[in-house]
Amino acid sequence: MCGIVGYTGDELAKDILINGLKRLEYRGYDSAGVALEDAAGGAAHIDVIRRVGKVAGLEEALANRDAAATCGIGHTRWATHGRPSKENAHPHTSCNGRIAIVHNGIIENFAELREELGQRGHTFTSDTDTEVFAHLIEEAYYGWPVGSPSDPAAGTAPGASAAPGCHDLMAAVREACTHVVGAYGLAVVCADEPGVIAVARKDSPIVIGRGARGSYVASDVIALIDATRDVVVLEDGQFARLAPEGITYTDTEGAPIEPAVTHIDWDIDMAEKGGYPDFMLKEICEQPRVVRDTLVGRMTGGELTIDELGLSLEELNLIDRVYVIACGTSYHAGLIAKNLIEMWARIPCEVEAASEFRYRNPIITPSTLVVAVSQSGETADTLAAIRDARIKGAKVFGITNVVGSPVARESDGVIYTKANKEIAVASTKSFIGQVVSLTLLALLLAQVKYRLTVGQVRMLFRELGDTAEQIQWILDTQKDAIHEAALACKDAHSALFVGRGMGAAIANEGALKLKEISYLHAEAYAAGEMKHGPIALIDPGFPVIAIATKSPVYDKTVSNLKECEARGAKIVVVATEGDEDIARIADHVIYIPPVRDAFSAITATVPLQLLAREVALMRGCDVDQPRNLAKSVTVE
Ligand code: M6R
Repeated sequence: MCGIVGYTGDELAKDILINGLKRLEYRGYDSAGVALEDAAGGAAHIDVIRRVGKVAGLEEALANRDAAATCGIGHTRWATHGRPSKENAHPHTSCNGRIAIVHNGIIENFAELREELGQRGHTFTSDTDTEVFAHLIEEAYYGWPVGSPSDPAAGTAPGASAAPGCHDLMAAVREACTHVVGAYGLAVVCADEPGVIAVARKDSPIVIGRGARGSYVASDVIALIDATRDVVVLEDGQFARLAPEGITYTDTEGAPIEPAVTHIDWDIDMAEKGGYPDFMLKEICEQPRVVRDTLVGRMTGGELTIDELGLSLEELNLIDRVYVIACGTSYHAGLIAKNLIEMWARIPCEVEAASEFRYRNPIITPSTLVVAVSQSGETADTLAAIRDARIKGAKVFGITNVVGSPVARESDGVIYTKANKEIAVASTKSFIGQVVSLTLLALLLAQVKYRLTVGQVRMLFRELGDTAEQIQWILDTQKDAIHEAALACKDAHSALFVGRGMGAAIANEGALKLKEISYLHAEAYAAGEMKHGPIALIDPGFPVIAIATKSPVYDKTVSNLKECEARGAKIVVVATEGDEDIARIADHVIYIPPVRDAFSAITATVPLQLLAREVALMRGCDVDQPRNLAKSVTVE
């Protein structure tokens, strides 16, 4: 989480930084700030402007300033160390104010470093872990005692000897990194090296690009795509020196390197709302395309193929256990996959929250396949679980939406979900891309294990493709029904999402969507389990949202709903088009077209996404940037 951006060139830095920060705001929006190098009035110095809240507040603050700087760095924060406040907002500066840093990641040994630096005379102005970096760089650059020779009053630990400074920003940043344990993507400016931005990375994304008017750095390509489509995705242990005239790259020793350049081919429209009132709705409406794009090129010569798998068919055939590891919505995609893998391929499949998997001792053998699902490809828990699984000897297969992301790079093979950039914090289209990709994987496993014939796989593949039109039908026809259902739920204090079989898995995603964007408490329960406890929650008017599409467990689900109806629940049902009977027990029915149960998650989730959005809007919530959240969770 947190977004960082930097620019040095011949244009006004403040405009470029603000535009970049707006694009990165999905990564965190507790506070925002910039550091601008200012040479006005003679000696260069650094101006830091920070505001609590969203980037718009910072933009307003900058609008009234005559900031002519052409070099600067910026940050939008999701708080980890220290509450959201102006003091804790980035950029952070050194004691002498001549070094400023923006950082994404977490410094695990910050408490020890802060103690040591304090003893050597550094004073801290924030509660953040990041600030230690500014002081470490200051020591390496200027030497210590702190601030010498310009600040002889600064304290020194008794008995501590002085160290000379290197007066080289890149060398100082490299030196500082050797003291830090943790993850960082950082950009640093120094008033004594005007126009230079030093960049370093470890376990936190950094992309760098060179445009016609200067050099750019950001946490995500979306912030620099206006300037260039050819970017360097910095690797761990690589450093970059950005200057107006060009960019140089070095390794940990300072030796020059030439990193690979990646061409970005997605459209800039992805970063804009394109006429929709919010990104969430835009992304929900893109889902038919996501289904189609994720399937392109998968059926060649009449056979299902996933070339990027990184495993031969023989190796795949040996797989005897599958773990799906993921977090949040991606975890819910895993719940759907479990049903499919076990049903079609007959391989035991467990789904685990990555944050739990990594601290257990799961049974992993060389014939275990671990499938790591992550929209962002940078979720810290999922990455740690991947590393753990590989050490234990598993083959790891990644499903991610971000090309070149850590999940993609650290897995043996990868499927890209083709959702394209997802900006709303609540995942929608990436979930659909994940479920489609996992469905392909389940079909492939069934094919190589001869559990399904090639003909059956082909038929299922065709039906899978049909879900694109089915989603479109829901988008086109169910708006009013969803609106009415939302009116019925909006004033509740809590809601239950229920279903059986696939419906139970889908219910989890429905509940998560509602709670994360409307702040209305919601829980998912297997409908058959209601009578073992949760039914006690139901009093007249309590919303129960059920997935009761035509499936082998339809009648059982309806029986469970009758139990809720008898206790006065307000019942909203996602049902199959043509099912008139359901209206007898439901207060509100939202229809989806008839679909094979195996594919029902792809369609039945869509009304639940729309319902959550409607409820959130009715409750006055920001559907794109819900409170306390950020899109990528790069901390444990
Ligand atoms: O990028 P990832 O898929 O790894 O992210 C996992 C979760 O953080 C994410 O799905 C989160 O739960 C979303 N807010 C759900 O809408």
